[in-house]
Amino acid sequence: MEKRNQAAKLIVGAVIVIIAILALAGIVSQHHITYKSVPLSREDISYGKVEAPQASSADGTITASDWSAVYPHIAVSMGSNKGNDVVVDYLELDPYLVEIYEGYGFAKDYGSARGHSYTLEDVAKTKRPHALANCLTCKTPNFTKMAQDTNEAAYALPFDEVYAQITQNGGETVSCYTCHGNNPGNGTKPKENLTVTHEYINLALGENKSTIDPGILACGQCHIEYYFDPATKATRMPHSSVEAMTPEATYDYYTQLGFSDWTQESTGAKMLKVQHPEMETVLLGKHADTLNCADCHMPVVQDPKDRTIYHSHMLVSPLEDETLLATCLQCHSSMDPDIRTGDDMIEMVRSIQKRVTEKETTVGNRLADFKKALAEANQSGKYTEEQLDGVRELYRKAQWFFDYCYVENSEGAHNYDLAMRCLNTAEDLIDEGTALLQSFAE
Ligand code: HEC
Ligand code: HEC
Ligand code: HEC
Ligand code: HEC
Repeated sequence: MEKRNQAAKLIVGAVIVIIAILALAGIVSQHHITYKSVPLSREDISYGKVEAPQASSADGTITASDWSAVYPHIAVSMGSNKGNDVVVDYLELDPYLVEIYEGYGFAKDYGSARGHSYTLEDVAKTKRPHALANCLTCKTPNFTKMAQDTNEAAYALPFDEVYAQITQNGGETVSCYTCHGNNPGNGTKPKENLTVTHEYINLALGENKSTIDPGILACGQCHIEYYFDPATKATRMPHSSVEAMTPEATYDYYTQLGFSDWTQESTGAKMLKVQHPEMETVLLGKHADTLNCADCHMPVVQDPKDRTIYHSHMLVSPLEDETLLATCLQCHSSMDPDIRTGDDMIEMVRSIQKRVTEKETTVGNRLADFKKALAEANQSGKYTEEQLDGVRELYRKAQWFFDYCYVENSEGAHNYDLAMRCLNTAEDLIDEGTALLQSFAE
């Protein structure tokens, strides 16, 4: 009896100790999580088919204001994107760019991106030449509709004419039609209502489109590398699959096509300009299988009054939003040592970006020096065209790899390894080209 009592006491004691340890661990781990611990997700949203309102626009696209009675929260959140209005002058920040982009519009005017509400204002204002309407591809759903309705002929129309027509008819900046067609309320499940309205994506990917999350494709309609077809001036995406999205494969694609964006006078090189390959860096990165763009840029929020739960359409940096930071921690503060990065996501991302931008400055300055040396050789009359072409090819390629990293807007946050690979490749090509140039002089 005595013995049994003692055993029972021991068990009870052990259980109490275990409970105490668990409770303490709970308090400690809760203490680490400084953000809301369980953020809302798309599973909390109620989906259902909705009657589309009458389109108020002349071209039949249903506008944000048409939808605002049905989806007031989403329309208001999209409008609040106006607050995202900071612009950095890259040419002032990194003067070596003026050298590298010589002979191209970006040497005259190159500011950082700002919110979607400014697309029409900014495209009108840029000092870069823009003769054709194809510059409106990523600025307004009214042009998307026009490209669809004219079977792509609109791309080659004069910019001023089309811009005036669109804005005089109350044209919209990036809006509901861009990502949902006329059917934002058509889905009973998450992502069912997303539509690719930019036909060049459908054309390039074909059946491979189904391998990509619709919430990545919606943004990838514009946040990608693209080019204008030299014959028709229509916008085209160079990749036919995710595997073909690497900077190496895309460079080969352009070279096989014999494509260049401009010929640089001082060096005689046929140059390429990279655009903003955000979809590529995400799809080739470590989150590609688990997260889409919305997961990191569109927090799921709840209206405190009517309790509606929805994706905020403001499109923010995840580092400026508590809900999104809490989402990161669902994985990043786990006990898995491969993922665990500590709880300070801001510090973690900023340290990656710092390493990438520092390397960019080094490689950008070296590229500008290499370009000056090539220009000098080109103008000296001392070398054959064949000799110069060998160096021009290395310069064109080095610039491509540098640019692929420089113009990507996350500064390495989407894909650190890829950013560094691009900069290291550029640096190797600069070394090779400089050595080749020196070997001629010897
Ligand atoms: C129709 C083309 C288009 C689509 C689709 C699009 N964007 Fe954009 N986005 C742009 C353009 C153009 C800018 C730059 C606007 C400016 O500077 O005037 C931009 C800017 C941004 C910025 C601000 C960048 C900065 O440096 O401040 C963010 C963030 C962004 N987009 C995220 C997204 C996300 C996330 C999606 C998908 C949900 C998306 N975009 C879909 C065209 C598009
Ligand atoms: C794992 C989370 C994650 C995913 C998924 C993600 N992003 Fe980002 N994105 C970030 C972070 C972090 C930054 C850096 C923000 C900063 O510097 O403040 C960023 C920056 C950006 C920027 C520059 C914004 C700015 O304010 O400078 C754009 C544009 C952008 N992302 C677009 C996209 C698009 C388009 C997709 C989908 C193809 C996408 N992102 C997917 C985390 C993500
Ligand atoms: C730049 C692209 C883009 C634009 C512009 C856009 N949406 Fe969305 N929308 C999305 C994405 C991405 C999601 C989330 C998909 C997911 O679950 O991953 C979404 C989700 C939705 C949903 C489903 C409910 C929810 O909150 O997730 C509705 C309804 C919706 N959008 C309506 C609209 C309306 C109305 C407009 C115009 C006022 C609009 N959207 C503009 C990309 C866009
Ligand atoms: C579904 C789980 C998950 C979520 C949610 C998540 N991550 Fe990650 N993240 C990972 C994994 C897995 C890795 C890869 C770890 C490794 O291999 O080093 C990673 C790596 C990263 C990296 C390094 C990327 C690189 O290319 O090396 C950054 C930066 C990052 N995450 C930022 C974020 C941010 C910011 C958020 C929230 C907006 C977020 N993550 C949300 C799982 C997640």
